[in-house]
Amino acid sequence: TEDGVRWFTLEARPGRADIVPGKSTPTWGYSQDLLGPTLRARTGETVGVRVRNRLPEPTSVHWHGMHLPAACDGGPHQPIAPDAGWEPSWTIAQPAATLWYHPHPHGSTQLHTYRGLAGLFLVDDGTAAGTALPHEYGVDDLPVILQDKKLNADGTLDERNEAGTGLTGPTVTVNGIAGAYAPVATDRVRLRILNGSTMRVYNLGLDDDGEFEMVASDGGLLAAPVRLRRLLLTPGERAEVVVRLQAGRPRTLRSFPAPLPARKGRGPSAGAAQGEEFELLRLDPRPQLRAGTATPSALAVIPPPVTASAVARTFELDGNTINGLPMDMERIDVTATVDVPEVWTVTNTHNRVHNFHVHDNHFQVLDVNGGPPPPELAGWKDTVSVPPSGSVRLAVVFRDYADPRNPYMYHCHLMRHEDDGMMGQFVVV
Ligand code: C2O
Ligand code: CU
Ligand code: CU
Repeated sequence: TEDGVRWFTLEARPGRADIVPGKSTPTWGYSQDLLGPTLRARTGETVGVRVRNRLPEPTSVHWHGMHLPAACDGGPHQPIAPDAGWEPSWTIAQPAATLWYHPHPHGSTQLHTYRGLAGLFLVDDGTAAGTALPHEYGVDDLPVILQDKKLNADGTLDERNEAGTGLTGPTVTVNGIAGAYAPVATDRVRLRILNGSTMRVYNLGLDDDGEFEMVASDGGLLAAPVRLRRLLLTPGERAEVVVRLQAGRPRTLRSFPAPLPARKGRGPSAGAAQGEEFELLRLDPRPQLRAGTATPSALAVIPPPVTASAVARTFELDGNTINGLPMDMERIDVTATVDVPEVWTVTNTHNRVHNFHVHDNHFQVLDVNGGPPPPELAGWKDTVSVPPSGSVRLAVVFRDYADPRNPYMYHCHLMRHEDDGMMGQFVVV
């Protein structure tokens, strides 16, 4: 800490990693060969990041899920040239959450992320619920960054960007390695799961089909834990789950085939890389387990969404554009006003899954295909899947930071789509 600012350093640089044993894969990472360090700060703290670009091309670093001034957001308007630096600084003004950071250079977000540029940014707020949950990082509170890769025989990344599927591959990694496992010494473990894949949707569950408790989504703790057997996570989304363990009985986090849309709007359809069968992370309990505390039955107070005198807007995702227009760096699509509630209706007119991500403030899901959101979507979100031929309605209020000059982005977070133009820009005034 200097001058009351907690400074972090990130150097985007090339590296080499053993994603699969015995193969050395050229990768990119932040201050390491692959992925980036977990950054961590408390609500109310002022943080700063000294970013250096040691890559051969421009990149940027976006703080996904962070409420901050647009000039610090790290989107396509804050590129960092090779060998140049960038030092954003802001005060954390949001509850505890699992956020992440990744590149956002217009047109190259998918490739940069696929090569390995991604890391977690954890916000702590010291509330009782947060500390009742497992919270010893690396012991009973584990980061789980999901990414998939396609490796050539010589270990290099296959970077053929197929229309439809983008950069997707059969090697699914947790924290950068295939076949990951974690020794566990407690009977409860909290997994902070990030879908950091560029295009793949995961339908998560446990190998024994047992329940787990979901305790947090993108923007922080849910009102109450939700018992689930399956959880759909599209690119950019996060979920914190608590898994119970018994001595000597490993359980494996895995991905199941995605449900086909039996009813309109629940689950994804065929299309862009859907959840398939992958073992992701084996939790290996030690013979003796320490007992953890039970998950509190109330986790957070989520106020009802504000919709009175909201400004209504519509966004149509047609598979290529939003509202018929491809992303234009020079065009501002939406001008919102600080503290004025907004209700955004996002319609997917395509027969494939897309999702919708909004920078800056988190939103609340009012409905999915006209019905109430399932409990896993009832907390603060920044990214939500929009069912094929379906719609979601979102309530959002932009706070604190008026800046007519620097836009924030909203976009499909399937990164090939965002690179191809399913993105728009908004300013807050
Ligand atoms: Cu995670 Cu605009 O991005
Ligand atoms: Cu974002
Ligand atoms: Cu999309």
